[in-house]
Amino acid sequence: MAELSGNLIVENAAELVTCSGTAAKTGTQMADIGIIPDGAVVIEAGRIGYVGPTSGLPVGLDRTGFDIIDASGKAVLPGFVDPHTHFVFGGYRPEEFAWRLRGDTYMEIMQRGGGIHSTVAATRAASREELLAVGRNRLEAMLSFGVTTVEGKSGYGLDLETEIKQLEVMAELNTGHPVDIVTTFLGAHAVPADYKNRGDRYIDFLIDAVLPEVTGRNLAEFCDVFCEQGVFSIDQSRKLLTAAAEAGLKLKLHADEIVPLGGAELAAELGAVSADHLLHASDAGIAAMATAGVVATLLPGTAFSLKEPYARARAMIAKKCAVALATDLNPGSSFTLSIPLLASLATLQMGLSPEETVTALTLNGAAALDRAATVGSLDPGKLGDLVILEYPSYRFIPYHTGVSVVEKTIKSGNIVFDKTRYEAPYVGGPA
Ligand code: NIG
Ligand code: FE
Repeated sequence: MAELSGNLIVENAAELVTCSGTAAKTGTQMADIGIIPDGAVVIEAGRIGYVGPTSGLPVGLDRTGFDIIDASGKAVLPGFVDPHTHFVFGGYRPEEFAWRLRGDTYMEIMQRGGGIHSTVAATRAASREELLAVGRNRLEAMLSFGVTTVEGKSGYGLDLETEIKQLEVMAELNTGHPVDIVTTFLGAHAVPADYKNRGDRYIDFLIDAVLPEVTGRNLAEFCDVFCEQGVFSIDQSRKLLTAAAEAGLKLKLHADEIVPLGGAELAAELGAVSADHLLHASDAGIAAMATAGVVATLLPGTAFSLKEPYARARAMIAKKCAVALATDLNPGSSFTLSIPLLASLATLQMGLSPEETVTALTLNGAAALDRAATVGSLDPGKLGDLVILEYPSYRFIPYHTGVSVVEKTIKSGNIVFDKTRYEAPYVGGPA
């Protein structure tokens, strides 16, 4: 064994799905996932070297110091990228799930002080150690589903101290855990109680007091805003995002989730990397996103949990938008980190093909995080992040409903999850 050397040879894969590319795929390109039958990958010091047929492995390849995996009968794909989560939070909200089943809406619960406000109270009260522990457990569960890169947002602090605490927890988890974390500042997730009816003042507070601390300490790569009727308006969102871009952050938006407010259009106007949710995005917004190259990150777990109509993925692909998929893991609108559920919803409810689903979970997910040059596909030079399935085809991902078909997860050439090992690293616990 070459334990944690980052040196690995995977050979004889029934199907090697490369998803080859260094930029988001749009339109019909999304169905092109680059399948190599009887494929092999060589990873050296954590980076991909050779990708191709097993018969084409370099003659006389010195295997000393390499782990060798015989992937006969198994499909191999790039590690999954989950580009939209809120995975660092305190507490849970199971009572709200029951209230929504009785007919209360998500926004009604939020407006009467529950929803995001409830998780803000619990996250403010949680110690750093508690947030680290639950965050680590959630990352372990993600690894078991084949996720090797995840985005995580602040937004359950809504004050300087707790926003920074959430971002610092993610920074610490990033250095101590195999899953790579891309951090997003979402201070504009809700108007906190002490700024009630003073949303403009709260935006100013974020710009004047929190953003400089976030950027000065390099605690986030993206800025996001919950641009929604009754939360932050288009003008408030534009003001914050413009200041964030000037301070060097890349942009994301929670856009057109509950009503068609024009979030997709704003994302295009500002050159955001992604716009997310988009359940009610207009035709004009979809066209503008396609023209501006904004990745449409769709979160069908949220539509499922809130019993809302799904985003119009087919119309987006027809208009040549790049579509990515994400879990939106959070304790309210989508309490799931399940990639199998996501794949089933994407195919059966939004009409993506299995191939488009794979692209949306890999290369386009990476593009939604501005990481398409380094992860999201099996290409020489990229990080050696991949998943090995228990079955011979990627088609089993959506087909085996609700069940993870990931046998092994590889991060930078190291096996970090292995279902076949007695001492599988998944430790369980609340996730
Ligand atoms: O993406 N919509 C806003 N934010 C999250 C939900 C957060 C929560 O309910 O705690 C979302 O759906
Ligand atoms: Fe979200």
